[in-house]
Amino acid sequence: MKAAVVSSFDSPPRYQEFPAPVPAGGHEMLVDVLAAGLHPRVRSQANGSHYTSTDELPLVPGIDGVGRGPDGRLRYFILPETTMGAMAEQTVIDTRRSVVLPDGADPVAVAVAVAAAMNPAMSSWVALRQRVSFEAGQGVLVLGATGNAGQMAVQIAKLFGAGQIIAAGRDLRRLAALPAFGVTSTVPLGVGDSADRLGQTAAEVDVVLDYLWGEPAATAMIAVLTNRADRSKPLTWIEIGSVAGATAAIPSAALRQARLQIVGSGQGSVGTGDYLAEVHSLAEAVVAGTVTVDARAVPLADVEAAWADADAKHRVVLIP
Ligand SMILES: NC(=O)c1ccc[n+]([C@@H]2O[C@H](COP(=O)([O-])OP(=O)(O)OC[C@H]3O[C@@H](n4cnc5c(N)ncnc54)[C@H](OP(=O)(O)O)[C@@H]3O)[C@@H](O)[C@H]2O)c1
Repeated sequence: MKAAVVSSFDSPPRYQEFPAPVPAGGHEMLVDVLAAGLHPRVRSQANGSHYTSTDELPLVPGIDGVGRGPDGRLRYFILPETTMGAMAEQTVIDTRRSVVLPDGADPVAVAVAVAAAMNPAMSSWVALRQRVSFEAGQGVLVLGATGNAGQMAVQIAKLFGAGQIIAAGRDLRRLAALPAFGVTSTVPLGVGDSADRLGQTAAEVDVVLDYLWGEPAATAMIAVLTNRADRSKPLTWIEIGSVAGATAAIPSAALRQARLQIVGSGQGSVGTGDYLAEVHSLAEAVVAGTVTVDARAVPLADVEAAWADADAKHRVVLIP
């Protein structure tokens, strides 16, 4: 069969022949892949930089996707850690890590929409469900709201009843589009008075969904905390992504002078069972169009060109 194959962590995957996987029995099922998302997590899998990387090569990247098995049903699946990923004509799934999707009039369109949205959407859905006791009416700051996951975080915070949704990001055009998704205030990042504006606008939020980390997160944290009217009001800062830096210099005083709790949300801090507990309801919301992301379908044969497309304005989905 054809697959996208990583033979070196220094080069993008190449479209080439690869042995078809064989299911081991039990809950394993061979599926024909319809769509697989090219998420930042997949890029870090393919270049060996993700914290779960085992350095094993060759590998077929792809952590999730949509496929159809011998039972004829369309399924969204999340793969375990494996070198046989989703970016292939076929892959092996564990049906316990899958959700059956409605076929609809256009199954490929359903597959592309779901493969594009589930990973970026899951980041905030799981964070708000599993890493904090989020209540309707609470205020949320999305730090790094202009990427695909950030834009979906805005929609999910609204779906969960957030009373205030503040979006901060450096892409002004994308930021300007976010009020249509439920954002109540926007703050541009990377301009002279960003920290002051963020501190004033987001001073009273209850939860921060942080896709940036690095220097912008440290600056934002101090700005928000020092502007808080009542510093004993709890603030849960959920670290989800690190596009601005893997480390952040958090002053010790930040943790002493305010009721700040910093937690992470991702593979490990959220167990597999907790992800699977959320995946059905999220898939329903995506299929219903309640939460959306711009998807761009690209043939699997063009995987090398797809890898070069790092534009965060859409999510690339590879279709075999
Ligand atoms: N923990 C989880 O469960 C989980 C799940 C999904 C994703 N993530 C992580 O979340 C992050 C975002 O994912 P994504 O899918 O949204 O990626 P994406 O669609 O590629 O978006 C990345 C965004 O980050 C912005 N950005 C990059 N560097 C920045 C900086 N220094 N300051 C401000 N903005 C910056 C980009 O803005 P510009 O347009 O201005 O360049 C872009 O909008 C990644 O780190 C990803 O690995 C985590």
